[in-house]
Amino acid sequence: MVEGEEKFMRIGVVGLGYIGSVTSVALAEAGYEVVGIDIDELKVKSLSAGEPPIYEPGLKEMLIKNSKKLIFSADYGALKEADYIFVIVPTPNKDGKIYLKYVEDAVENVKRVNKNAIVIIKSTVLPGTASNLMRKTGMTIISNPEFTKEGTAIEDTLKPDRVVIGGNDKKAIEEVKKIWEFANSPIIETTNENAEMIKYASNAFLAVKVSYINEIANLCEKVPGCDVEEVARGMGLDKRIAPYFLKAGIGFGGSCFPKDTTAFMSFAKDLGENLSIIESAVKVNKNRILRIIDLLEDKFSGSEKNIRVGVLGLTFKANTDDTRESQAVKLVEKLLSIGFKVNAYDPMAKIKLENVELFNSAKDCIENSDAVVIATEWPEFRELNVRTGKFVIDMRRILSLNSNSNLKIVGHYG
Ligand code: UDX
Repeated sequence: MVEGEEKFMRIGVVGLGYIGSVTSVALAEAGYEVVGIDIDELKVKSLSAGEPPIYEPGLKEMLIKNSKKLIFSADYGALKEADYIFVIVPTPNKDGKIYLKYVEDAVENVKRVNKNAIVIIKSTVLPGTASNLMRKTGMTIISNPEFTKEGTAIEDTLKPDRVVIGGNDKKAIEEVKKIWEFANSPIIETTNENAEMIKYASNAFLAVKVSYINEIANLCEKVPGCDVEEVARGMGLDKRIAPYFLKAGIGFGGSCFPKDTTAFMSFAKDLGENLSIIESAVKVNKNRILRIIDLLEDKFSGSEKNIRVGVLGLTFKANTDDTRESQAVKLVEKLLSIGFKVNAYDPMAKIKLENVELFNSAKDCIENSDAVVIATEWPEFRELNVRTGKFVIDMRRILSLNSNSNLKIVGHYG
């Protein structure tokens, strides 16, 4: 650790999106001087002014607190004096395949200004990517995937369950290990390929776990006396299973699980392997929306055009403003496509949805709707008075079981 010494260790970060801005701020909090680069001048300006480009609890305060150790710039030249440069740019899917151009460009640009730096890839990339980039650029590249959840991103970065460091250069691995020493977390030292594989295998496993409990929830709904929350509690106390990611709900969304499972399946297919368990998890996830539609159709069959469905929550989970791949948004689109009218309310989401009436409070949204679906587990929904007799589908287990006789709770019989 370097705090208190004459000079801070200077670390570069390329890409100031969700993970990039959190990593920059967390590393500054840990004592490093951080230079963050992004080609988007607006992001750079906003971070320089102490305003994170995304909502993440605690991030703004930590950004302001560490502003002296943080420099943000749109010019790669600012990375000249950084010895270690994290690459944290997006790796979206294009036609079902991972699109690597942003990562490739970032590494090339780093090479242009600082060819002796150690590049640390935090972007999610398929096994073999770092080695290919090393061959192409001749640079030293370490793989250091992130396991950061939105909503608890700072904690996950400062105190991760484990730090995975992959590489083929022993000295570089040791140096990157030193960067993360402050976290006091177990460190897995391995090859680049294993590090890259660990990231996908972990995310896909968690997605499978969510779909698994969602299927058990479907079954519980058919068996008198069954409730998935109790079942999950009973399962989770087994240390081999663990209680996490066993919350039945509307299905997984967000910027990682849907994208990573798709890229992983396509990667496997190209190698002649079929990831059938992951394929099933993705299929189960798609069907979450159709189950809600079935319930509404059963109730209102034939009169869809006269029914306003109020969707409470649009983000992919609570404590974020992120609506990427949100199941709630997919639900809204599906409802509109089959003729329902749609109202919506979310305390954070900034998304604009065509043909949807957005409300400023959950209360107004409920009052103006004929049926309600709770799609995101925002704590404020817990306080809702849904004793309106309206048909309510609680997809997040937010309401108490007997708050309304016309209430359908995910994973509960009846
Ligand atoms: C995820 C991974 O957890 C993280 O390690 C990775 O690096 C990025 O992707 P994030 O997308 O922030 O993080 O969300 P996460 O908390 O993992 O939830 C993903 C989705 O699964 C959400 O839509 C959430 O609502 C859903 N989920 C999660 C459940 O439905 N039930 C659960 O028990 C857990």
